[in-house]
Amino acid sequence: MSTLTFLGHDAFTVEHEGNHLVFDPFISGNPVATVDPTVIKADFVLLTHGHGDHLGDGIEIAKANDAVVIAPFELATYCGNRGCEVHPMHIGGSHEFAFGRVKLTIAHHGSGADLGGDALAYMGNPCGFLLTLGGKTIYHAGDTGLFLDMKLIGELNSIDIALLPIGDNFTMGIDDAVRAVDFLKPKLVVPMHYNTFEVIQSDPKDFKEKVEQKGVHVRILKAGESMDF
Ligand code: NI
Ligand code: MN
Repeated sequence: MSTLTFLGHDAFTVEHEGNHLVFDPFISGNPVATVDPTVIKADFVLLTHGHGDHLGDGIEIAKANDAVVIAPFELATYCGNRGCEVHPMHIGGSHEFAFGRVKLTIAHHGSGADLGGDALAYMGNPCGFLLTLGGKTIYHAGDTGLFLDMKLIGELNSIDIALLPIGDNFTMGIDDAVRAVDFLKPKLVVPMHYNTFEVIQSDPKDFKEKVEQKGVHVRILKAGESMDF
C-alpha cells in the first residue's frame, strides 16, 4: 500500500514501502501549508520547475535528508551546484529507481527563477511526472496549460491518480482541466494549484461536479490530508 499526502499548492508526499518521495515542496511562505518543512522526511525530491512556488524548500529538504533531487537537467544542475545529490532527467526520458519508475512529460509553462539579479536564472523546461510504483501510476502534471499530447499520455499509461492544476491564470482553469481528464482518462483526479493566492481562486467543488458527470472520481484533499492507494 502507498500513501499520498497533500501539503498544499502542488506539494505532495508519496510514501511507498519505506520510500519517501516529495513533490514540489513549497512550504515556507505557502499560506495554506500546515506542516513544518524541517519534519518532512524525504528520500527523493521531485521538482517540476524552478518557480519559487515549486522549488520551494526543495534544496533544504533534500540536504537535510540526504535525499536525491529528481528534476529536469538544468534545474537538477542548479540544485547540484547548491550541494544536493541529484538525478537529472529530461522530457520523454524514464528511469527505474529503487521505489519505482519516473518519466518526465512536457508541461507548457516557464521555469526561470528570480534570484534578485537583472536576469532570471534559466532552469530549462518545466515538466510533469509520471510515477509508477506498486503497480499504480500517478501523474503530477506540474504547472501547465491544456495540451493535446495529454491524449497520448492517457493512451500510453493507465493513470490511477492524476494531480491536475485548476487555479487558472498560471495554469489550466477548471474547464481546461475537465478537458484534460477526457484526454488522460485517469481513475481518480486530485485538484491542485488553486486557492493558494488571490489570483488562483478556483472552486474545487465546481471542478469535482463537472468531472464526476463524466464518471471519473475527484478527491479534494485539504492541506495535510492523506489518502491510501
Ligand atoms: Ni510555475
Ligand atoms: Mn506554480
